[in-house]
Amino acid sequence: MVMDKISISTLGKFVGEEVTVKGWLYNKRSSGKIKFIVLRDGSGYLQCIYFKGNVSPEIFELADKLGQESSIAVTGKVKEEKRAPGGYELDATGLEVINEAIDYPITLKEHGTEFLMDHRHLWLRSSKQVAILKIRHRIVKAIRDFFDNKGFTLMDPPILTPAACEGTSTLFETPYFDLGKAYLTQSGQLYAEAGAMALGKVYTFGPTFRAEKSKTRRHLTEFWMVEPEVAFNDLNDNMDLAEEFLEYVVQTVISEMTEELKVLERDTTKLQKVKRPLPRISYDEAVEILKKNGVDFEWGNDLGGADETIISNEFDMPVMVHRYPSAVKAFYMKRDPENPKLALAVDVLAPEGYGEVIGGSQREDDFDALLKRIEDNELPREAFEWYLDLRKYGSVPHSGFGLGLERTVSWICGLDHIRETIPFPRMIYRITP
Ligand code: 4AD
Ligand code: MG
Repeated sequence: MVMDKISISTLGKFVGEEVTVKGWLYNKRSSGKIKFIVLRDGSGYLQCIYFKGNVSPEIFELADKLGQESSIAVTGKVKEEKRAPGGYELDATGLEVINEAIDYPITLKEHGTEFLMDHRHLWLRSSKQVAILKIRHRIVKAIRDFFDNKGFTLMDPPILTPAACEGTSTLFETPYFDLGKAYLTQSGQLYAEAGAMALGKVYTFGPTFRAEKSKTRRHLTEFWMVEPEVAFNDLNDNMDLAEEFLEYVVQTVISEMTEELKVLERDTTKLQKVKRPLPRISYDEAVEILKKNGVDFEWGNDLGGADETIISNEFDMPVMVHRYPSAVKAFYMKRDPENPKLALAVDVLAPEGYGEVIGGSQREDDFDALLKRIEDNELPREAFEWYLDLRKYGSVPHSGFGLGLERTVSWICGLDHIRETIPFPRMIYRITP
């Protein structure tokens, strides 16, 4: 009996049987009496072999003439073949065309980045992009598993918000009925703090937005962030959580996504070293490293992308940099009681030049100190009344951090640019497709 809806990844269960597999023509070649079609269906790749004697002349000719990305249904007998991609081959007897693709624009030769980005909707079908999407999915699952297994509750914050969270210079605004303006959220953190006071341990995980005016390989205008927030955690607890989390995500992905990492030709030697404890250095020590490397860096400035690379090159693991000057950090961060010029902040810098993947802090939990910070930053108090309430009714020390999903995908996959880590990237100069 011919069965339908069999995916390539499950063919091992059908050795010796005749099956029909539906998918797209990825590649083909021919050598005299034999035609080869490589079929892809998203779950894998399958080499289908048409012998001249085994099929009708029409099918034999069709196997030769069909264009790349034509959608087809292939029928044949499953054979084990160690050398074939995926380990199986199809001794094909049937070929049915669902939709013929003529002149598919992305051939298997090299194309320029802009061309590929313009055809992102089609580019997603290539083997490298499929591998990245699968790794992204596995990273998302590892993130959720980690927090779910530790008793965190997932909490979804709003995307339309009344105010800035991470500085007013990167806000996207939109008119909002009679209420004036709304802003696309830069971070779910402030809402996660309310959640932590209700549920103890929460995480938010969703899209966040920054009107980044810089064109870099690390910035998107729309990206996904996961943000845990924990009541009663101080900065040290926060760093403990961050390193355990990073180790779990990286180790899970490299042990389970070996095939996809191979497609990307990712050398995972350095990723394998991502194990607790991660090195922890203060901002002051980071400045010393910069000076030692000949950088003319002034204490008090924020670390730029190039500085982060120099610092992380001193370590073969992600490095945690803590206690930044409060002037370069967000208003909600608690000051270091031992030195009020410093914020109880931590950034985690990934190795291999990938820069900051995590930013976090202990939060200001004192009402008066937080109010002063809001005023000093000229933020509209009305929009933060609810946030101040959290410091009025049972305020406790609490901490959290945010991990950028796309920066993490870029690092784990070893990509040159963040634009390939999300299906449809949004950047200052691109909003299509
Ligand atoms: O350091 P950030 O701005 O921190 C926050 O938003 C805090 N509210 C997080 C928290 O404490 N709950 O952003 C966190 C992370 C960065 O480390 C980076 O990985 C990523 O988000 N990120 C971006 N990723 C891609 N494109 C951008 N424009 C990004 N901006 C930040
Ligand atoms: Mg940051």
